Amino acid sequence: MASMEFNKAAAALLSAGIAFAVTGIVAGVLVHPEPPAKTAIPIPNLTAPAAPGAPAAPAGPEPIAGLLAQADVQRGQQLAQRNCAACHSFNEGGKAGVGPNLYGVVGGPHGHMEGFTYSAALKGKPGPWTYDALNEWLYRPASYAPGTRMAFAGLPNTQQRADVIAWLRTLSPNPQPLPPAAAPAPAAPAQPAAAGQAAPAAPAVPDIKARLASADAARGEAYAKRICAVCHTFNQGGRAGVGPNLWGVVGAPHGHMEGFNYSAGLKGHPGNWTYAELDDWLRAPAAYAPGTRMVFTGIPDAQQRADVIAWLRTLAETPAPLP
Ligand code: HEC
Ligand code: HEC
Repeated sequence: MASMEFNKAAAALLSAGIAFAVTGIVAGVLVHPEPPAKTAIPIPNLTAPAAPGAPAAPAGPEPIAGLLAQADVQRGQQLAQRNCAACHSFNEGGKAGVGPNLYGVVGGPHGHMEGFTYSAALKGKPGPWTYDALNEWLYRPASYAPGTRMAFAGLPNTQQRADVIAWLRTLSPNPQPLPPAAAPAPAAPAQPAAAGQAAPAAPAVPDIKARLASADAARGEAYAKRICAVCHTFNQGGRAGVGPNLWGVVGAPHGHMEGFNYSAGLKGHPGNWTYAELDDWLRAPAAYAPGTRMVFTGIPDAQQRADVIAWLRTLAETPAPLP
């Protein structure tokens, strides 16, 4: 069963290539065979706030400010494709569906899409869409804006809301700054049992050499075409998108694409893209090159990083030797 799903996903990836990563709704369904925790369009008021493993949040939503810096943008993208894409588009200039296009919504006014017929309840809300406002809204839309036309029960899981909002933030040429992560909620368990597998700083992560030796480049390719292709091309001579073309990046100097306008933080990084440097970069881009323009939180899973790097290595006429 699982392998059938995988074959379907692999076939779809092969035939649709990079465009596939952009047709997010299909990718979200095919590449993530695990069934959605709930129906895509829950019926309002019928959903008990009981996401599996969610630390019961009775009153209002738990704050997310402290979670945003560590939020998982890819996870947020997947969640949005599963839960929101039935009604929303996300691309710049994208059309309205049942709901408005969401490009640039973070920091925008309530009812930010020109020409969309919003409910008075939502449109009448004062002020911009701050992170806190989005947190309340996505927790329970009907409570935030009684009379809203968004027929979506809400995302009761705090980490999921943070992930989705962190992803919405990237839908902008100039993403809003993140709130200072320094003020953690007093008793909040920093990482609420993140599906049991997270623990990125766990003691026994094998070094990049060992991980590369057992890396699965095909998995890395599938991942990169789903996640990184939103901003990068990979083919020889390919054009820049939001990010530079990545052909030949392994072993090349930082900021290797001629003509691409890199941040000083990245371009000024000394040395070349060794495997270890790529591993550091992809773990936490903003920590590796403060001020980087790559708006991507990183790949927390060490083996997944190695898979991606093992595939990046193949983007060369003569791939660099493995360590
Ligand atoms: C069943 C369709 C539907 C689903 C599913 C849905 N939305 Fe909406 N959304 C709407 C509609 C309709 C509106 C306009 C609401 C209004 O005018 O009251 C809206 C409005 C919004 C707005 C405000 C936009 C603005 O311009 O102010 C945001 C943000 C938003 N949705 C995010 C989400 C996210 C994130 C998800 C998934 C977690 C989601 N929505 C799921 C239909 C939907
Ligand atoms: C939201 C867009 C975006 C996503 C998603 C993204 N990147 Fe980037 N990437 C960029 C930008 C922009 C830069 C240039 C950063 C700078 O100048 O600070 C960059 C730079 C890089 C570089 C350095 C290239 C060089 O020439 O030095 C590598 C390597 C890279 N990205 C790999 C990846 C991988 C692998 C993924 C997926 C796991 C990924 N990126 C996801 C936008 C993105």
